[in-house]
Amino acid sequence: MDGNGRWAAKRGLPRVAGHRAGAEAVRTTVRAAAEAGVEVLTLYAFSSENWRRSDEEVSDLTALMRFYLDREIATLERDGVRLEFIGEPAAFGSDLAARMQRATERTRHNRKIILVIALNYGSRAEIAGAARRLAEKVADGEMTVDAIDELTIERELQTSRWPDLDLLIRTSGEVRLSNFLLWQAAYAELIFLDTLWPDFDATALGDALGQYTARQRRFGGR
Ligand code: IPE
Ligand code: MG
Repeated sequence: MDGNGRWAAKRGLPRVAGHRAGAEAVRTTVRAAAEAGVEVLTLYAFSSENWRRSDEEVSDLTALMRFYLDREIATLERDGVRLEFIGEPAAFGSDLAARMQRATERTRHNRKIILVIALNYGSRAEIAGAARRLAEKVADGEMTVDAIDELTIERELQTSRWPDLDLLIRTSGEVRLSNFLLWQAAYAELIFLDTLWPDFDATALGDALGQYTARQRRFGGR
């Protein structure tokens, strides 16, 4: 979800206004994705590298997440959205962590769409964690080195409960993955849009899904 800052700058507004507008786009997009039949929607809300931003911006983003969780939970519950988190969200403090846990609990039985928020997420750190846990299992004699393969690695990823990524959309004209779901995106279709995240909406999602449907996925075959 990139481009909040530029969206605000274009309007002469502070960056936090862009993040607020971005949160609105989240609401719209989740609803549109659910309606379109998307099963799992993962949003990259805060990367493990975003801590490099100013204290002010980090605290604005934290406050906004708290606000979003408090205000949206009832709607998510009503709309059948199951909320999950990946990354290391504990870094945002026990107050926010408790809210996330409560939100996850409250929406656990929802079936319409799974909304995964990647918070303090970094794909390399996730893969390193998987490697560490597998090494521990080998050291404990629970598995052999030979048993380490794509499937056993995948099972240790935070996304193990969900299918592989089919479609990855990046907004705001940047053409890179920025440490997002690197393993999971191995065969994902990639779409890069100039649209700034706050301007992303149901139409933009529909266009992207249309493009995705029109592509021929061969997974290395011919
Ligand atoms: C949103 O956009 C990304 C986050 C919430 C961390 P940016 O804040 O990266 O906006 P730009 O790239 O400065 O426009
Ligand atoms: Mg950016």
